[in-house]
Amino acid sequence: MTAQDGKPFLYVVVCAAGIAADVSKLITAAQERDWEVGVIATPAAMGGFFDTAAVEALTGRPIRSAWRTPGEPRPFPPPDAVVVAPATFNTINKWAAGLADTLAVATLCEAYGLGVPIAVLPCVADALAAHPAYNESLMRLRGMGVRFGDPHSGEDRQAFRWEYALDLVDR
Ligand SMILES: Cc1cc2nc3c(=O)[nH]c(=O)nc-3n(C[C@H](O)[C@H](O)[C@H](O)COP(=O)(O)O)c2cc1C
Repeated sequence: MTAQDGKPFLYVVVCAAGIAADVSKLITAAQERDWEVGVIATPAAMGGFFDTAAVEALTGRPIRSAWRTPGEPRPFPPPDAVVVAPATFNTINKWAAGLADTLAVATLCEAYGLGVPIAVLPCVADALAAHPAYNESLMRLRGMGVRFGDPHSGEDRQAFRWEYALDLVDR
């Protein structure tokens, strides 16, 4: 499968944070900037964190969450850029450690090797962010060239800067 109309293809990776309920804001903004969007969600995020039917209607593609079977074609074209929003404590730490136990984290691990721009909007409560493993994960990912938005605790939904992720991959 190739991107429609020759548009660049953006993977939006969605994790199980409460703020994921607003992810359609990011998808709409990306489409307005002429990205074709495919969503990859963690299995936890698929459990009621966002309106999956609305997102599928918006992107015109099924959300990916599980691995395809070996005989199935790749459902999405390769990415031109990847955005992780919202990014949880769990997914950030697993990604940094290279623990590819969900399709979402495996996709992130592979994106580094593909050399495409990757932007992350973390959504992590202050008490979790204090864990030393988290800071080490951020340092490791930054060292890999991953671009980060401002820290966000999940408290103020209106203050979450969805569009900034697109600025980060545009650079
Ligand atoms: C209502 C609710 C909101 C949550 N919000 C967050 C959050 O903002 N950030 C976070 O790191 N974890 C949050 N969690 C915990 C994650 O869902 C949990 O760690 C999960 O294992 C993350 O899985 P994932 O990284 O594969 O998406 C929340 C859990 C619930 C039930």
